[in-house]
Amino acid sequence: MNKEKWYFNSVFYQIYPQSFQDSNGDGVGDLEGIISRLDYIHSLGMDAIWLNPIYPSPFKDAGYDVADYKNIAPRYGNLNTFDRLVKEAHKRNIRILMDLVFNHTSNEHPWFRESQKMEKNHYSKWYVWCKRPELIKLDRGYWAMWVAERYESYYHQFTFYQPDLNFGFPDLAKENGNNYNDSDIKALREELKSVVRFWLDHGIDGFRVDVADSLVVEAGKKGIHENTIQFWNEIREVIDLYGDKAFIAEGFQDHVDDIVRAKFNGCFFIPQNWELLSFYPELHKESFFSKKFFSPEGGDLTQFVKEYFREYKKVTKHGGTINMISGSHDMSRMSHVCKKDEIIKAYFAMLLTYPTTPFIYYGDEIGMRYWENLPSREGANFRAGSRTPMQWNSEKNAGFSSVDSSKLYFPVNGDYPVKNVEKQERSSSSSILNTVKELVKLRKSNPSLGPFASIRHLHLKKGDKSYVYSRYGKGDAFVIVLNPSNASGNLTIKLTSEEEEFKNAKYLMPEICSQKNEKVPIKRELSFQLPGNFFAVYRVT
Ligand code: NOJ
Repeated sequence: MNKEKWYFNSVFYQIYPQSFQDSNGDGVGDLEGIISRLDYIHSLGMDAIWLNPIYPSPFKDAGYDVADYKNIAPRYGNLNTFDRLVKEAHKRNIRILMDLVFNHTSNEHPWFRESQKMEKNHYSKWYVWCKRPELIKLDRGYWAMWVAERYESYYHQFTFYQPDLNFGFPDLAKENGNNYNDSDIKALREELKSVVRFWLDHGIDGFRVDVADSLVVEAGKKGIHENTIQFWNEIREVIDLYGDKAFIAEGFQDHVDDIVRAKFNGCFFIPQNWELLSFYPELHKESFFSKKFFSPEGGDLTQFVKEYFREYKKVTKHGGTINMISGSHDMSRMSHVCKKDEIIKAYFAMLLTYPTTPFIYYGDEIGMRYWENLPSREGANFRAGSRTPMQWNSEKNAGFSSVDSSKLYFPVNGDYPVKNVEKQERSSSSSILNTVKELVKLRKSNPSLGPFASIRHLHLKKGDKSYVYSRYGKGDAFVIVLNPSNASGNLTIKLTSEEEEFKNAKYLMPEICSQKNEKVPIKRELSFQLPGNFFAVYRVT
C-alpha cells in the first residue's frame, strides 16, 4: 500500500450543488456558481471536491435518481461548463470527484422505459423483474407493484422512483437467465464501464460510489455479495487505466475488510458519525438519544473510539482509510447537536487531527444551522434542514442567489446576517471558519496528523466527558485535548517512560486552542486545566 497517495492525504469538501452558489438567478445552485467559489474552497485548504450527483434527473431523490449518466442536468450547466470547472479546479490544485450511482437509475431513465415494455428488448433484463415477489424473502428492498405494460413487479432498495439495476439476482436465477454472466447483464456492465470512461475522459479525479455494497442481494446471505465485489473489480480495472484516481465507497462501513477485495481506497464511517453528531429522527434507537460527546451536556466517546479503531485496523490493513465526515446531505448538521460554536470547533479539532481522510460538508465550516421541520423538497424529508443555501454574506439571500427569495430552492437560514463566510473571514482568528483553516493547514504541514501516523489514547474513560490523545510520526508529535461539554475541571495524565512521542521533550506548546492557553510542562505527568467547551492542539517540543 502506498501511503503517499493523494487521496489518502487530502482534505475533501462535499458540495451539494443545488445549494452552493447560483450564478444565473434561477434560485438553484449551478456549476458556474461553483467555479466562482473555487478561490474560497482553495482558501480553506481543500484538496478535492465531491459533487453530489449533477446528472439529468427528475430529482425525486435530489439527483440520486439518474436519468442520463453521460450528461449534466441543464439547471447546473452543460458539459462545457463542467469541463471548465475541472480545468479551473485543477489550476488551483483542487481535484474533482463525481458521484457514481450505479445501484439504481431513475424510473424515467430511457433504459427503464424500455425495460418495462412487454416485448423483449435489449433492456428487458437490465432491471430486476419478478412475477411472484411474495416468494422472495429479502432483508432489504421492496417490490413495486406490477407495472402495467409488463405485468411484473420490479425491485427497488430506495424509493419507487429508483428501480435497481440488475447485476444478477440469485433468487431469480431460474427466471430469464438472471445471473451475473448472462449476456444481457454483461451488456449492462459494459455500458456502465463506458460511463466511467466518459467522466474520466472529462478529466475527473475519481468517484464517490453510492450504495456500493448491495448491487447484488441474495436471500439469507449476509455481507457483500461476490458478484458485487466482482463488478467493482471490473470498474477498478477501467479506472486504473487513467492513473491515480480516488475510489471511495459508501455503504461498506460494516464490511470494511471487503474494501480491498472490491478495490476501494476508502470508505465512509457513516452510521457511527451519525451516532456521534446527529439526531437521526427516523431511527428512534436508544443509542441515538444517548448523551453526545460533542454537546453542552457532554457524553461518552469510548464506544465511538472502540468501533472506530476496530474498523480502522481492518481497513488500513487492507490498504484503505476511513473517511470521517463533518456532516452530509443525509444527516442533521452537527450544529444541531453541538449547539455552541466552541463545540463545533472542538469537533473540527478532532476531525482534522484524527487518523482519517476527512470530508467537510459545505457550510459546516461556518457552523451552519440545521433547520428542523423545514418542508421537504426533492425527496429530502428530514434531510432538507441540512441542504439550505450556503451563507456567503449578509446581502440578499446570503449572497447565494439574486432570485426573489420566494423562488429559492430552499429558503436561507434566518441567522445568515450574523453567520456567514464574509463575517467569519473578517473576524479575529476565533471564528469557526478561521479555526478550520488553521487546523487544515496544520494537518497538511505535519504528516504526524495524517491518516496513518500513530495515535495513543492518553485519556479515554467510560463516563468521562474529556478525551486526550497524541499523534506522532516521523519526528514531530502533537497532543490533542478535547473537553467539549460545559463541564470544567482539571486532568492529570500519568506518563510511563514508554511513550516515545515524549522522549527528550520538555513542553506541550499550544498551537491552536479555543482560548488563550499556557504551555504544559512534560514531567512524569501532564496536567491540564479544562475549561468547558474547550479544545487544544499542542505541539510536543
Ligand atoms: C445514499 C445517498 O447519500 C442518499 O442521499 C441517497 O438517497 C441514497 N444513497 C440512494 O441513492
